[in-house]
Amino acid sequence: MDILVIEGGERLLGEVTISGAKNAALPILCACILASGPCHIEDIPNLKDTLTIKKLLMDLGLQFYDKNDHIIADPSNLSGYEASYELVKTMRASVLVLGPLVTKLGKAKVSLPGGCAIGARPINLHLAGLKAMGARIDLEHGYVLAEADRLHGCEFNFDTVTVTGTENIMMAATLAEGETVLYNAACEPEIVALADFLKSMGAQISGDGTEEIRIQGTPELGSGKIRIIPDRIEAGTYMAAAGLTQGNVLLKNCNISHMESVVSKLRRTGLIIEPEGEDVRVVGPREIRATDIKTQPYPGFATDMQAQFMSLMTLANGTSVISETVFENRFMHSLELQRMGADIRIEGHAAIVRGHPFLSGADVMATDLRASACLVLAGLAAMGETRVHRIYHLDRGYESLEKKFKGLGAKMRREKE
Ligand code: EPZ
Repeated sequence: MDILVIEGGERLLGEVTISGAKNAALPILCACILASGPCHIEDIPNLKDTLTIKKLLMDLGLQFYDKNDHIIADPSNLSGYEASYELVKTMRASVLVLGPLVTKLGKAKVSLPGGCAIGARPINLHLAGLKAMGARIDLEHGYVLAEADRLHGCEFNFDTVTVTGTENIMMAATLAEGETVLYNAACEPEIVALADFLKSMGAQISGDGTEEIRIQGTPELGSGKIRIIPDRIEAGTYMAAAGLTQGNVLLKNCNISHMESVVSKLRRTGLIIEPEGEDVRVVGPREIRATDIKTQPYPGFATDMQAQFMSLMTLANGTSVISETVFENRFMHSLELQRMGADIRIEGHAAIVRGHPFLSGADVMATDLRASACLVLAGLAAMGETRVHRIYHLDRGYESLEKKFKGLGAKMRREKE
């Protein structure tokens, strides 16, 4: 396994281009199942997770053609309906083939995702939504078996706001008989991006981006075309990196309107974050101000930015309280930050972070995607050398991370463990 060796203390200076959003690309690739012809998709990030989902879709019969600035996804030979345990266990987002397969082919066999480091992350609401649309759902040997002659529209209320749950049921509803109304739907920009892609195929959707989404089913959808939106979590990660290193960074391909809660909290810590033409200028302060956050579904503070924000708070000029309300076990990175000298106390769903003047480099272990990003950030600011182990987590969600950070002046190299 690879490790990332970081020599801390360098100010990040220069410009970095934000890649297409992982959490928009994954559902959009799955939505190609619904099309009746080749789909044109631009700015898909080159990540382990996008490769995994393409492999799964190819197993189902989709064909991909890589062009220089876009890919063509052709679902004409779609025949399979099974997502195996081997693939789903490596990436829970594989469950996003469930809704498209049931509504397109009338059946799907998808492995239950199983446990995850950050929480139980059940898919009960995905299944309840499909049942409400008339699917027959059986659980056998760790697989979900879903069947339906033709799904019918329904009114469905999500007991908990779920991003991929909303995406699964919205996709299923596009080919169902009649109208589907989703209440307490997720409002993330990635939901709107998926809806835009589905509309480009001819789907009739309104209310996407709000808590009430209406989908009028149609018998067939055509070919789709989309450009993947910028990754707001990657952008937030580089903003936090500038904050930790008193940096001065220009973010290209960053849509600041997708990250207003995160930006407002980062500004409270002292970062200067200002649009500069099409780009966004980020300047880190000499002193980081302690700032409380509470993660919430969009448009609240993104849970996927919680770990990165914690890194920033370890060097703040006071004590901050970080509340995690979305996942039940998303503070594992705090144990690794403590090995670098951070002063963090966990009390239930809150982490109390007492800022220190410095962190010291150490060997640390990544436990999940955003925890690994947080440890890289801490290593950039720490005194001495930090070695981040198990960085395969990073490769799932950050395109060309070392190249981008080294382009900003970071001293970083990948080594074999
Ligand atoms: C999506 O995961 C993202 N992944 C996650 O990003 C992100 O952290 C999460 O949304 C929250 O914003 C993708 O989009 C591929 P949820 P998802 O369903 O959809 C509970 C990253 O780092 N729940 O919104 O799986 C669940 O347990 C990843 O890029 C149910 O109870 O998250 C959680 O507590 C990590 N039943 C809460 O809802 C269900 O059927 C939110 O989960 C579904 C969810």
